[in-house]
Amino acid sequence: MMDNCFLLLSSGFSVIASGKCVVSAATMQGPRRKSKVMVMMTMVFIFIVVEVSRNAGKGNGTKNKQLVPSKPFWAKDLPSEAYWNRQQQQLNFIHNRNLQNLNHTIETLPDWLNDTVSLDSCDPDSRVTTQVKDYNSLPDRFKDFLLYMRCRSYPIVMDQPDICSDGPFLLLAVKSLVPHFDRRQAIRESWGKAGQLANRTVVTVFLLGNAATEDNFPDLSNMLLHESSMHRDILQWDYRDTFFNLTIKEVLFLEWLSTRCSGASYIFKGDDDVFVNTIGIIEFLGNLSNAKASELFVGDVITNAGPHRDKKVKYFIPESMYVGMYPSYAGGGGYLFSGQLAQKLHNVSKQVPLYPIDDVYTGMCLMKLGLAPEKHKGFRTFDIEEKYRENACAYKSLMLVHPRSPQHMIKIWSWLMDPTLNCQ
Ligand SMILES: *[C@@H]1O[C@H](CO)[C@@H](O)[C@H](O)[C@H]1NC(C)=O
Ligand SMILES: *[C@@H]1O[C@H](CO)[C@@H](O)[C@H](O)[C@H]1NC(C)=O
Ligand SMILES: *[C@@H]1O[C@H](CO)[C@@H](O)[C@H](O)[C@H]1NC(C)=O
Ligand SMILES: *[C@@H]1O[C@H](CO)[C@@H](O)[C@H](O)[C@H]1NC(C)=O
Ligand SMILES: *[C@@H]1O[C@H](CO)[C@@H](O)[C@H](O)[C@H]1NC(C)=O
Ligand SMILES: *[C@@H]1O[C@H](CO)[C@@H](O)[C@H](O)[C@H]1NC(C)=O
Ligand SMILES: *[C@@H]1O[C@H](CO)[C@@H](O)[C@H](O)[C@H]1NC(C)=O
Repeated sequence: MMDNCFLLLSSGFSVIASGKCVVSAATMQGPRRKSKVMVMMTMVFIFIVVEVSRNAGKGNGTKNKQLVPSKPFWAKDLPSEAYWNRQQQQLNFIHNRNLQNLNHTIETLPDWLNDTVSLDSCDPDSRVTTQVKDYNSLPDRFKDFLLYMRCRSYPIVMDQPDICSDGPFLLLAVKSLVPHFDRRQAIRESWGKAGQLANRTVVTVFLLGNAATEDNFPDLSNMLLHESSMHRDILQWDYRDTFFNLTIKEVLFLEWLSTRCSGASYIFKGDDDVFVNTIGIIEFLGNLSNAKASELFVGDVITNAGPHRDKKVKYFIPESMYVGMYPSYAGGGGYLFSGQLAQKLHNVSKQVPLYPIDDVYTGMCLMKLGLAPEKHKGFRTFDIEEKYRENACAYKSLMLVHPRSPQHMIKIWSWLMDPTLNCQ
């Protein structure tokens, strides 16, 4: 215990308050122990004096001399045991090299960092079957995810190239699935009604992948075509629309935003089973200061979370895939961010390997930008107390509530639109 204390003490100040040392010192008894304690206290004192005078010297002189490393000065990475983490190390390395133009590091590139396969290949990457320790025992959704983890571009099959020509104030982007016709229609008739709202331009789009017949979906393609020709608000890409592919939806959407809707001031992105108080959101946005507005990212923020290790949970992630905590992230039910930040997210997403949980992925991208999402108590992805759910005024002060059925969305919207509603 004593040795431990000295080791810790010599490594820096902050540890002096370490409970471990204080406790172990306090439980020692007898005169010999006492003198040991004295010796230790003396050493601590000397250490402090030395350290303080050393720091004082730093103020001038030595400070002005800049040390320019002749070699890369970061420690060599050891490969992580987890596949995603290793992919991130690889992307970090490539990005650093591009930034620093460190040609000489290439000579010493270890094999695990030297990836010869194109980083955004869309061919199934069969190497994962050996590179992920327990690949063969993983559930199919992980195998599917891992095989296509590098693929980020899928053809767009339904586009709305001119939908943002008015540079909307607010773009509502709703993650939906092909069969959810009723949810989309309820949103169009309620909180997602496009046009002018509270004197602002609002545009709504629905984000879809494929309901593939190989997954035994009935063929709904003609119905979808009909819907799209009526409403012209469907964006569809040609990939299998599964839970683990929601991150694909995110990166494809960011790409679309940067090419088709870079003029949108703000973007709400959320699920098709939420109620959104669009007017409340417009008011909130109208009140923001300019400084705050440019890097806005608000939602129902989850902090200090990590991957679930219980195989039965929907969000289960094996240790062979990811180790570490999650960054702060806003629950995927719905969050709000600025158009300027969207461009940065689009850029930085290329430096973050795809992760099977889309809202965590967005949190990872924000962290890479040195940003964190901000919690807003109006975003209620875990619903409100049951006794308030039929209370019109309860919704007036909220931004988002999850979950809500199509019928309930329409009902709540009509309450909020009622000019006689009085919530004092
Ligand atoms: C320390 O630096 C400041 C400004 O850089 C200078 O004014 C001051 O005289 C210096 N002090 C010593 C002790 O060198
Ligand atoms: C690094 O390599 C690139 C292309 O191979 C070359 O254009 C560049 O001048 C090199 N930079 C240095 C610092 O050697
Ligand atoms: C990367 O691997 C390829 C093939 O194994 C090899 O030819 C190449 O020299 C390696 N590059 C570096 C920089 O180590
Ligand atoms: C509506 O918005 C325009 C510009 O966005 C502004 O000039 C006008 O004053 C607004 N009207 C009302 C009634 O708020
Ligand atoms: C994601 O979509 C691709 C392209 O359709 C598909 O090959 C892959 O199996 C899907 N992944 C998951 C986890 O569903
Ligand atoms: C916006 O500001 C107005 C007036 O300052 C205030 O009445 C309103 O509650 C604010 N709205 C939001 C959503 O913060
Ligand atoms: C995104 O990246 C491109 C190319 O690297 C750069 O020109 C652009 O300024 C970046 N945009 C933002 C918002 O960071």
